Amino acid sequence: MLGGVEPRPREPYAASMLVDYEAEIARLKKERNAVLLAHYYQDGDVQDVADVIGDSLQLAQAAAGTTADVICFAGVHFMAETAKILNPDRIVVLPDLSAGCSLADGCPPERFKAWKARHPGSVVVSYINCSAEVKAESDYIVTSSNAEKIVASIPADKTILFAPDKNLGRYLVEKLGRPMVLWQGSCIVHETFSERKLIALQTRHPEAEVLAHPECEESLLARAKFVGSTTAILKYAIASDKREFIVATEAGILHQMQKAAPDKTFIPAPPEGNCACNECPHMKKNTLEKVYLALRDLEPRLEMDPALLARARVPIDRMLALSA
Ligand code: 13P
Ligand code: SF4
Repeated sequence: MLGGVEPRPREPYAASMLVDYEAEIARLKKERNAVLLAHYYQDGDVQDVADVIGDSLQLAQAAAGTTADVICFAGVHFMAETAKILNPDRIVVLPDLSAGCSLADGCPPERFKAWKARHPGSVVVSYINCSAEVKAESDYIVTSSNAEKIVASIPADKTILFAPDKNLGRYLVEKLGRPMVLWQGSCIVHETFSERKLIALQTRHPEAEVLAHPECEESLLARAKFVGSTTAILKYAIASDKREFIVATEAGILHQMQKAAPDKTFIPAPPEGNCACNECPHMKKNTLEKVYLALRDLEPRLEMDPALLARARVPIDRMLALSA
């Protein structure tokens, strides 16, 4: 005994600390004939082991075209659910099944059905960030990269209901000059950016261009040089001859920006509070360890009612056909 204090027994290393996740994930992907799809909002170490990194549309397209036996989806629930809808006979695993989305959660199917019933004869366009039940009630699914094209293809005499993101909806109304009835949902991450702090940041970086996702509020988008999906923002930043950018979307996208253009400066747009609110708490539930466990155990799996799956597939297939 030292100084009357019982020495603490040395704790054995947790088994997980001994795993080389990158090597094990590579091994399991081969063994399982699995493909690992990752969204840009995942942590950098998860993006770095993925077979495909992309925005919502690219990941849905990758899921639609895969020949793998297993899809491991490093993203959120609605994304893995979309992959399952497109692959009813394949195993789809989501490393953390509780990885949700404030947009999907803010659009409960029963309320959505009642809203739709109040507007008979309308065309229902839903952002892919929604549940399978909402997709099954929709005529078209869109993502931030194809919404403009798909909405523009709908005959002008039709009333359009757009759900669940009011910010993307309002952006499209203004861009296309096309009125739509908007569901009043929003993304907790993209709503967090502070216009006041952005102005202060722009004063310190007058040369920086603001790049924003259309899920941001109107006041933010008004200050953006470029508005687009995560992939579109990334491509713009790489191609631009500017050196500095303020990025108003989830901070995970900076990983690919810095990798692709290490000589440029990317500054995350500031949230209103002193928090890391520009990180999606749902996306960040997936970790390298959980990806490894999902591939090892083939759990947690997406399981869906076949009838719901078939109904939800119709508007997704329409979207894919219009996005080819
Ligand atoms: P995209 O990657 O399709 O632009 O979507 C952003 C998003 O919020 C996903 O949840
Ligand atoms: Fe949903 Fe927003 Fe997270 Fe995207 S960033 S998954 S829209 S909560």
